[in-house]
Amino acid sequence: MMREGGRMRFVRRTAQSLLLCLSMAASAADVPKDAKHEGAASCASSLCHGSSRPLEAHGVLQNEYVTWSQFDPHSSAYRVLLNARSRQMAARLRIGPAEKAPQCLACHAEVVPAAQRSPRHQLSDGVACESCHGPSSKWLPTHHQSPAVTHADNLARGLVALERPAVRAETCTACHVGDATRYASHAMMAAGHPRLVFDLETYGELWRTSGGREHYRKGPGKAAPAPEIWVAGLVTATRRQLDLVGQHAGRGGMTDFGVYACHSCHRDLRVAAFGGGTVAADPLTGAPGELRLQDGNARMLIVVAQSLGIATQDFTAAWTRAQSAVNREPARSAAAVAAVRSALARLGVSLGSQRWQTAERQRVFDGLMRAARGGAFPDPAAAEQAAMGMVMMLAELELDRARKAQIDQLFATLRDENAFDRARFARVLAQLDRGAERPVVVPRGP
Ligand code: HEC
Ligand code: HEC
Ligand code: HEC
Ligand code: HEC
Repeated sequence: MMREGGRMRFVRRTAQSLLLCLSMAASAADVPKDAKHEGAASCASSLCHGSSRPLEAHGVLQNEYVTWSQFDPHSSAYRVLLNARSRQMAARLRIGPAEKAPQCLACHAEVVPAAQRSPRHQLSDGVACESCHGPSSKWLPTHHQSPAVTHADNLARGLVALERPAVRAETCTACHVGDATRYASHAMMAAGHPRLVFDLETYGELWRTSGGREHYRKGPGKAAPAPEIWVAGLVTATRRQLDLVGQHAGRGGMTDFGVYACHSCHRDLRVAAFGGGTVAADPLTGAPGELRLQDGNARMLIVVAQSLGIATQDFTAAWTRAQSAVNREPARSAAAVAAVRSALARLGVSLGSQRWQTAERQRVFDGLMRAARGGAFPDPAAAEQAAMGMVMMLAELELDRARKAQIDQLFATLRDENAFDRARFARVLAQLDRGAERPVVVPRGP
């Protein structure tokens, strides 16, 4: 039913677009309290960010408004709430019109308290500039006066430091995974919302080049290396998924089904239809019949860390304890989830200090291949995380063009999650692996 939707269309586009191109700081806490959202129209002058074509004068393209309003899916995020699918969802959920429902607007528009809205701020702008860049009233009047006004000055006035991978990850995953105020619940899924999929680097690139235009130019001194952005996204998405467990326990202490891995319930009745007999090798396996938490990102992190020789036992042990507590002992689950969060933070620090030379990229690519063949990505949600990571690593190793046909086949195995066949996924991977010439000989990680 919902499978024909944006997601699989997107995954195909992603494969193509990647082939073609290829620390916490200023977060909400640092935004000045009385800063206001001025609205996208405030950025739209043709002398500012509303140029019809890219300009060279100031180091930024200056056509961001045009690109956003015409090509970026975020500018239609509000409009989507008016379409037939949203109307149908809203009717099933009995929440009145979707475009007025706070639980939908939370992610599909720039929702801020009335006191922080200037008259030009419009909910109908959808996910507009300040949803990502932060409220602008304190920096808008002066931010173009470089060199007198520096980037650091702008940051101090509430501009969000999106160039930092951890900050960018916080910003995007607030909607693409969810947070305390934004949650795509199981009821919404069952009413027809697409299952949320996110990978910071893959989605970031796809979004940056929406409609074949660039939102910002990548270049020396601008963006962090792709693997750093990717890993920051995995760490943050995992943490947000853990946070959702505490934030969205339902009535009577029952946790909403939306925090669990969808495929731990939505699968057929063959025993271990996704497990294929390799369960023993699965580091996150729980007791039989236990619901798995959303673990696609966590599974990727484990493989990346292990490939780089970083220990993961603390994290995996804490994870399986927390999963079991959420399933069986609600009273213990908050403490158990907090323990995973600390183990995750430690893992994040080790991974964050990682340098990404060719050798590391190759080890991670090899590790992903081994893990996928060994059954570490047991369901479509985990497999698509793995596929996005592999395609990115191939691009990083500059092997992507040669592998184009096989990458297409890999994404073809993910097109219909209801027909996901793990054995086929593994076979296509094996071909990718065989095809991947080795640019350097690298000792394998432990
Ligand atoms: C936690 C954030 C979040 C909430 C809450 C949320 N959405 Fe979404 N919605 C998204 C994201 C992100 C996407 C894009 C999904 C993707 O491609 O990964 C999306 C996609 C959609 C789509 C498909 C759009 C398309 O182009 O096909 C519809 C329709 C939709 N949402 C309607 C709703 C409605 C109605 C509600 C309220 C009942 C709602 N959403 C609540 C984040 C959210
Ligand atoms: C979905 C989030 C998002 C939205 C919406 C968004 N941006 Fe951006 N924008 C980013 C990210 C991420 C960057 C890259 C920042 C970096 O790496 O320095 C960026 C970069 C930019 C840059 C270049 C900054 C530089 O130093 O190179 C400008 C200018 C800009 N955005 C303006 C806008 C305007 C104007 C709008 C609205 C019309 C807008 N953005 C909407 C996320 C967003
Ligand atoms: C305020 C919430 C919000 C934030 C913040 C946000 N997004 Fe989105 N994003 C959405 C919604 C809602 C949609 C679906 C819009 C639609 O279908 O029209 C979406 C759609 C997308 C899509 C298209 C997905 C598809 O299936 O076609 C990409 C890619 C994307 N976002 C990337 C990003 C990135 C990268 C960031 C951070 C730089 C980001 N988003 C920040 C809410 C958000
Ligand atoms: C704890 C088990 C469980 C988990 C986890 C779970 N679901 Fe469900 N889901 C159910 C049940 C039970 C129903 C109701 C089935 C029925 O009405 O026959 C349902 C119904 C649905 C439906 C409607 C199906 C229909 O035929 O109308 C969709 C779509 C759906 N879930 C999507 C998801 C997604 C996406 C996730 C992951 C975010 C998820 N589910 C996680 C148990 C689960």
